[in-house]
Amino acid sequence: MCGIVGYVGPKPAEGVVIEGLRRLEYRGYDSAGIALVDGGSIVSDKRAGKLANLEKAIAESPLPPVTTGIGHTRWATHGAPTDRNAHPHVGRQRRVAVVHNGIIENFAALRHRLESQGVEMASDTDTEVAAHLLEEQLETGADLTVAMQTVCSGLEGAFTLVAVDAQDPDRVVAARRNSPLVVGIGEGENFLGSDVAAFIEHTREAMELGQDQVVTITREGVSVSGFDGTPAEGTRYHVDWDLSAAEKDGHDWFMRKEIFEQPRAVADSLLGRRGEDGLLQLDEMRLSDQDLRDIDKIIIIAAGTSFYAGMVAKYAIEHWCRIPVEVELASEFRYRDPILTSDTLVVAISQSGETADTLQAIRHARVQRSKVLAICNTNGSTIPRESDGVIYTHAGPEIGVASTKGFLTQLVACYLLALYLAQVKGTRFGDEISQVMDQLEQMPGHVQTVLDKADEVYALARDHVDSRSVLFLGRHAGYPVALEGALKLKEIAYLHAEGFAAGELKHGPIALVEEGLPILCVVPPRGRDQLHDKMISGIQEVRARGARTLCLAEEGDTTIEPYADVLFTLPQVPVLLQPLVAVVPLQLFACELASQLGHDVDQPRNLAKSVTVE
Ligand code: F6R
Repeated sequence: MCGIVGYVGPKPAEGVVIEGLRRLEYRGYDSAGIALVDGGSIVSDKRAGKLANLEKAIAESPLPPVTTGIGHTRWATHGAPTDRNAHPHVGRQRRVAVVHNGIIENFAALRHRLESQGVEMASDTDTEVAAHLLEEQLETGADLTVAMQTVCSGLEGAFTLVAVDAQDPDRVVAARRNSPLVVGIGEGENFLGSDVAAFIEHTREAMELGQDQVVTITREGVSVSGFDGTPAEGTRYHVDWDLSAAEKDGHDWFMRKEIFEQPRAVADSLLGRRGEDGLLQLDEMRLSDQDLRDIDKIIIIAAGTSFYAGMVAKYAIEHWCRIPVEVELASEFRYRDPILTSDTLVVAISQSGETADTLQAIRHARVQRSKVLAICNTNGSTIPRESDGVIYTHAGPEIGVASTKGFLTQLVACYLLALYLAQVKGTRFGDEISQVMDQLEQMPGHVQTVLDKADEVYALARDHVDSRSVLFLGRHAGYPVALEGALKLKEIAYLHAEGFAAGELKHGPIALVEEGLPILCVVPPRGRDQLHDKMISGIQEVRARGARTLCLAEEGDTTIEPYADVLFTLPQVPVLLQPLVAVVPLQLFACELASQLGHDVDQPRNLAKSVTVE
């Protein structure tokens, strides 16, 4: 939510900053802006809309070839997405320029104080107060680092701020509280970014910062301190993916590229999980076997797509480990006063590791002394850092706003967690766990089989460009798949789409069914008690009322044929693992339909990749 870039070094800052913003644009695209330090003054440009608008403006009115700058791509919170509210914001002397991600919660009081001292605000944003406050500090003789420490000590909320001072051209200063910021460490140059994509083409050496820290970058180095000025150390790490991972690789959209990367992402997420003794090992689990044996309840918290991964996890954990599992929306969790003890394991699932709702939920859980395990795709992000243990998924960078490979790899991590708990608690025999691991290791091939038939799904999507509404039905582990299929369609095709548990349909939603309504049905594999037959009954019920049934069913399932207007076959896999293959055609369907409708698939309206506000 908002992308931030900062640069100081020998290269022209405009190019570095604009290129960084391009890679961060998935975080927000309501407006974009840049500020450069040019011989004692700030030169800036900022435009509502996508980065392309800013680039056009700069092409018409070029910026000076200077070497220190900051930039921003915005997902609006305070103030409409206009030129006026676009970042950077400057102080009244235009000495300071600042960009910001997050929300300054006490901005109204600060703004009131500044206005009563005669400051005229040039925007409706909370950010602008930070520019004026920083300038106020500089006027007392403080340097930008000290000014940032002082100002941040008086701010409430969650924020990343990055600022430059016109009179100190070789320094960029940033601060963070509950909002992402990483440092890129180069040779004779240094970078700041909301994530490493901002500078990955220049350096793969990065540094993560703690909470309430200020970082100063110059050409020569990086220094870190607390808001109170105490010197601090960042944690250095090497980024193990490169620029090509952040490029589209010949696909029209990042989302499509990421859907096709799923066999690799699933395989990578399974890599190295079995020790030589055949036992499962989870490197960063960090919770002892005894801690895990003591667990008597699991609560999974997550948002959006990650929440649906959590729903699948519930089926797997309860079945394999016999531990009760609740799945809760992160945004609701702490407001219902959940019952948590030191024997409760809270599992937080987050692709970005920065989702504010999920972060606040785990903090609440930790205060109640529960153990927290993160399932996360982003190394060094806040949620795993604040958790007792972590299972990293290895999807690589997910740029498309709609999550795809993030979801599949979260499912893999959930299965691994369930099997690991079964191993530690002894609720499954070793050979049973090995058998499921073998099945999981075959999943990349099965996902590839589905992808090889993408054209079938694209044709289906093209047939539905005029649909105004699409329903999705599933049962058991197919129910979260139905919900996820509907979410994808809402997000990128802007269609009315709803997912239902098939058995629930007759309790109300079946009234929605009318002649020709497309209903995508996720049919469970045969052989699991009555699940398959019950699903077929649900499909018959909607078809009898005129629905057009688009069925996903396992290969060889002939019983579905009489009831399917369209049949797409899935590889034969166990019911609990079926989400890994069943969701793929739904992702392809949404991606193609949205493309046909002419929507921007990677940057859907009103959304942002990483939701760092509550
Ligand atoms: C859907 C999507 C969102 C995220 C949700 C949680 O395609 O991307 O629903 O799943 O905002 O994000 P993370 O997993 O980063 O916490």
